[in-house]
Order: sequence, then C-alpha cells, then structure tokens
Amino acid sequence: MLSKKVEKALNGQIRIEAESSQVYLSMASWAEVKGLEGISQFMYKHSDEERMHMLKLIKFVNERGGHATISDLKAPKTDFGTFQKMFQELYDHEIFVSKSINDLVHVTLEEKDYATHNFLQWYVAEQIEEEALARTILDKINLIGNDKGGLYLFDRDVQQITVESAASDTTE
Ligand code: FEO
Repeated sequence: MLSKKVEKALNGQIRIEAESSQVYLSMASWAEVKGLEGISQFMYKHSDEERMHMLKLIKFVNERGGHATISDLKAPKTDFGTFQKMFQELYDHEIFVSKSINDLVHVTLEEKDYATHNFLQWYVAEQIEEEALARTILDKINLIGNDKGGLYLFDRDVQQITVESAASDTTE
C-alpha cells in the first residue's frame, strides 16, 4: 500500500511524464512543418516513449492500491526557433526530469517504501540513458555547425540514434 506522500509524489511524476510527451509532440510538429522530416520522426517517437513512462507509473500506482490521477497539463510552446535550440531544450528538459526522479526516489527512502524505491530504479537508469542520448545529439550538432550538407545528413540519421547507441557511445 502506498503512503499518501508517495502516492502524491508519484502522481506528480505522472504529470511530468505526460507534459514531457506533450513537449516532444510539439517539437515533432514544429520540425515537421519546417521540413525536418527525420528530426520530426525522432520527436514523435520520443513523445510516445514519454507516454509509455507515464502509463507505467499509472499502472504501478493503481496496482499498489493508490489512485493515479490524470490532471490538466501545462501547454508546451509551439515555436522552437532553431533545431539546435530545440535539442538544447530537450537536454535541459531531461535534466529537469532526472532531478524530479531523484526527488521522488528520496521520498520513497524517507517513507521506507522499498517496493516503490525498487520500481523507480528503472527510471533512474532510463534517465542516465536519456541524458546520454541528448548529449550525443548536441555533440553531433556542434560538429555540424552551419554546414548544410551536415544538417541534411543529421536529419537523415537522427532517427537511428537510440538510447542504446548513445549509451554505448559514452562508454567507448
Ligand atoms: Fe520520461 Fe524523458 O523522461
């Protein structure tokens, strides 16, 4: 059984994952209308992953005798300036999510809720990978600079950059 404090903290994370999904969905749509097809596909996929993170939390809360509540969401912005700035925002957003997961883990320790603590280890590992992914992409963007050919290749290849490939990049 979840304590009220853990339930509230988990519901807060459900909202953050839902908002993350909306942020990346907005990025996907912006990239699509800019003709950045590959980047757009990458963001649509990323948005789906955030929804999966949210659903996993909802199931957990309800299975443990809590009530996962669905709240209204902060609307994401609709214009991201340049794709470089957009990926910087993605990175900053993931840092924010990691902090939120860490705070949540802290609450479970305070409440001596080791089952939830254990469940959250998946998210801790996922955030390491998501940050690595975002950093890998930013490194590639820096290498391209203003080179149009580089941008063409980046847009073509970004869909192949997965959390798995980014994680192995950083361990090389
Ligand atoms: Fe669910 Fe990208 O954090």
